[in-house]
Amino acid sequence: MRRDDRNGQDGQAVQGSVWQYSPAPEAREIVKIQPRYGLFINGEFVEPRSGRYFETINPANEEVLAEVAYADAEDVDRAVRAARHAYEQVWSKLPGKERAKYLFRIARILQERSREFAVLESLDGGKPIRESRDVDIPLAAAHFFYHAGWADKLAYAFPGRTPRPLGVAGQIIPWNFPLLMAAWKIAPALACGNTVVLKPAETTPLTALLLCEVFQQADLPPGVVNIVTGDGQTGAWLVQHPDLDKVAFTGSTEVGRLIQKAVAGTRKRLTLELGGKAANVIFEDAAIDQAIEGIINGIYFNQGHVCCAGSRLLVQESIADLVISKLRRRIQRLRVGDPLDKNTDVGAINSRRQLQKIERLVAIGVQEGAELYQSDCVLPSKGYWYRPTVLTKVSTAHTVAREEIFGPVLSVLTFRTPDEAVQIANNTRYGLSAGVWTNKGSKYLEFAARVKAGVVWCNTYNKFDPASPFGGYKESGFGREGGVHGLAAYVAF
Ligand code: NAI
Ligand code: MG
Repeated sequence: MRRDDRNGQDGQAVQGSVWQYSPAPEAREIVKIQPRYGLFINGEFVEPRSGRYFETINPANEEVLAEVAYADAEDVDRAVRAARHAYEQVWSKLPGKERAKYLFRIARILQERSREFAVLESLDGGKPIRESRDVDIPLAAAHFFYHAGWADKLAYAFPGRTPRPLGVAGQIIPWNFPLLMAAWKIAPALACGNTVVLKPAETTPLTALLLCEVFQQADLPPGVVNIVTGDGQTGAWLVQHPDLDKVAFTGSTEVGRLIQKAVAGTRKRLTLELGGKAANVIFEDAAIDQAIEGIINGIYFNQGHVCCAGSRLLVQESIADLVISKLRRRIQRLRVGDPLDKNTDVGAINSRRQLQKIERLVAIGVQEGAELYQSDCVLPSKGYWYRPTVLTKVSTAHTVAREEIFGPVLSVLTFRTPDEAVQIANNTRYGLSAGVWTNKGSKYLEFAARVKAGVVWCNTYNKFDPASPFGGYKESGFGREGGVHGLAAYVAF
């Protein structure tokens, strides 16, 4: 059976029938995981001064993959000093066309080693290999290619002005797109002539550490990128370091707030990409089956660990019953399981903590009156798993319509008129993204103009391109990543 046939003809049940895939696991031998990783400072892996290490596991089976160095304040300081030295002595003096060569090289090596990166990303974070192979890694390489192109053309990006680098950037990234977020942060910083200290998330440090090998292979001058692994405290030490010129953060709104406080009154420039509670709006004139696929992709993609996930489905009342019954059938056919299996649609939840958060919020949803519908797929016995879930009879006052769940959970609300759809879509403290499904151009253009969200997808969802700026309104943060807008966050005039 092909992937696009999974809907079955006329929604016939296919689970448990002859139409089952045989397991097709990707070989994990392609990637060599070291038992222990140091910190990447000044172009080489070094022991942490802290003397401490922590474990990173595979959330699909709780197997320990490696020990990773824990950077304390002194280690962070060492990394920032290396970045400052590299900035002053080497990187800020290189002409743009020379910086471009390094970025092109990094992009090409990433492509050459893409399978290795994809397997490691799935092992360390739990996402299906199909996502890491087809989305995360190609987009990460694309980001380096795109910014390589800008490195010697910054004067054209900002006509009539003379862009200068800011200096040293401290960057903190989350666990949902580990390599991609590293690329989003590092590529524009380097293209504009800055140097970097980056802290990966504690549950998913391994692809950022593999990226250090790529930097070595590409002969990137030592100190231009430094990677310090650790937890939130390591992140806090980095943000507080007095010798940073720029802080860039992607993660929770809660931590975003702490970071904003920590940099207030300093010279540090700040961009924050935080949470979301996107509305995916389906009008009665939409191509329904196409929309269902988009909705499924918008929320179950990457286990719903996506800040721009279409976690609120707003469906026009006249088609609500039809859409809900199609959704229920469709989630039964999502394949949940081994992230390394090429047929898997939904992988493991990233951590026990995240799983508990999802369970807690769904329980609150049910308590407040939402109706629960879950796939009855068989879940693996070890690791962290959550069934694809649809919550119906949700209203805007419900916790599940307001809080970011960050899991494979769709909350369904209904509306009657386009005005009401806009009102509900905007009734949130977030504003990162939105989706709209209709066959009327005028309708989606009007919706896109009125909805307060950084990205609005029309008749599609979760499409990314390095040339397209990404970022939020309200509590989803400020600043943009990608495109010329993203470059602007790394230059001064
Ligand atoms: P988090 O915001 O705590 O973690 C993100 C990064 O920030 C990690 O690298 C972490 O080590 C670091 N960090 C934590 N505390 C810090 C501090 N005080 N100063 C500097 N850096 C700090 O996110 P967490 O706890 O992993 O997830 C909690 C919730 O946040 C999720 O359930 C989800 O709702 C949301 N989230 C949103 C993301 C997004 O892409 N917008 C990504 C990850 C989580
Ligand atoms: Mg891990």
